[in-house]
Amino acid sequence: MKAAAGVYVHLPYCRSRCGYCAFVVSTDDSSRDDYLAALVREAAILEPEAEGFRFDSLYLGGGTPSLVPADDLARLVSELRSRFPFEDGSEVTLEANPEDVTGDRRDAWVAAGVNRVSVGVQSFDDGELAAVGRRHDAAGARRALDTLGKAGLALSADLILGLPGQTRESFRRNVEELARAGVEHVSIYLLETDKSRAMEEDQRARPDRYLSDGDQADAWLEAGEALAHRGFEHYEISNWARPGREARHNVKYWTRTPTLGLGVSAHEFWSDRRRANVSALAQYVNRLFAGDRPVALDDPVSPETAARERIVLGLRLGAGVPAPEVETWIAGSDEPLLAADYEDWLEAGLLRRENGRVRFTERGFLLSNEVLCRFV
Ligand SMILES: C[S@@+](CC[C@H](N)C(=O)[O-])C[C@H]1O[C@@H](n2cnc3c(N)ncnc32)[C@H](O)[C@@H]1O
Ligand code: SF4
Repeated sequence: MKAAAGVYVHLPYCRSRCGYCAFVVSTDDSSRDDYLAALVREAAILEPEAEGFRFDSLYLGGGTPSLVPADDLARLVSELRSRFPFEDGSEVTLEANPEDVTGDRRDAWVAAGVNRVSVGVQSFDDGELAAVGRRHDAAGARRALDTLGKAGLALSADLILGLPGQTRESFRRNVEELARAGVEHVSIYLLETDKSRAMEEDQRARPDRYLSDGDQADAWLEAGEALAHRGFEHYEISNWARPGREARHNVKYWTRTPTLGLGVSAHEFWSDRRRANVSALAQYVNRLFAGDRPVALDDPVSPETAARERIVLGLRLGAGVPAPEVETWIAGSDEPLLAADYEDWLEAGLLRRENGRVRFTERGFLLSNEVLCRFV
């Protein structure tokens, strides 16, 4: 039987743009009603493609989905349920910013069918939060986690490593606090300063405010150890979960399981094609109102690309990939020195070959970009 598919929906509205963020977002929500109507039209266009599939995950991402009025969210979820056959017990995740979390909203989200919330904590240090223009402080993040935890929702939280002003010690405290906060899933992202011109310039002007690469690497390894100590498993480069609490939807991306992507800039993998919608909000809405799906990219995935994807996406997972897949690829590759480098990576302890699978070690994850970019 085919693996159950997923649906991602991009909700792009935010109150303000955080210093580091390069996602497709808008701080002007005057188009929100039209946008929600456009999403419903897109779901109707996609419904025939979903025929024969079953679905077990819905991810409402952003942007700031928690900013969308709860009754609009409820209508949206119910529209999506009427178009796509979601199984009972499907994972329904909502991304929430701490400042939006109240008891009333939480109850409305639960009533709408949300059973998992991913909270953008980023840090428990007020200075670090202010430095990147977050609208919440540490107390707000604690309150949000507490409020959500009381309703028995599955909880995930994001932290960023490398925020301006952050030290190894303050990051260690962030991780420790999160591990004790009752979340069952943690995502840690390395700050990507190249996503915003202001951030890039700040790093150039005041490099002393940023951790060196070496300190970041050490802080990241320490975080992994602290989370392992608290019962979390490192199941994907950026993600840790208590056993059995991995993000069902996100795992589909790394295992190449079909997912539909609705909304501006949304990406999807469907019927062996990778597709993406346009990134301009007005164009997204207008094209759907004219009856067209606003697709900007639509590429078939060749068998060779599929084999490469199985390696570069699969190696992101703690479980790695079957060794013959990697080794067959290497044997057929024209990439000079790849075979020799593979042996070196194993010998140097960046990759481990065990029980017929190849996977990154913790130290290997840190250098995974350099390894994965060789599989071209
Ligand atoms: C799609 S964003 C939206 C989440 C939500 N709106 C929020 O702000 O909490 C998901 C996560 O990506 C991470 N992120 C966004 N931009 C980043 C950057 N430039 N570098 C590292 N992590 C980033 C943040 O941790 C954020 O929580
Ligand atoms: S980090 Fe979240 S709140 Fe901030 S701009 Fe990006 S999507 Fe919006």
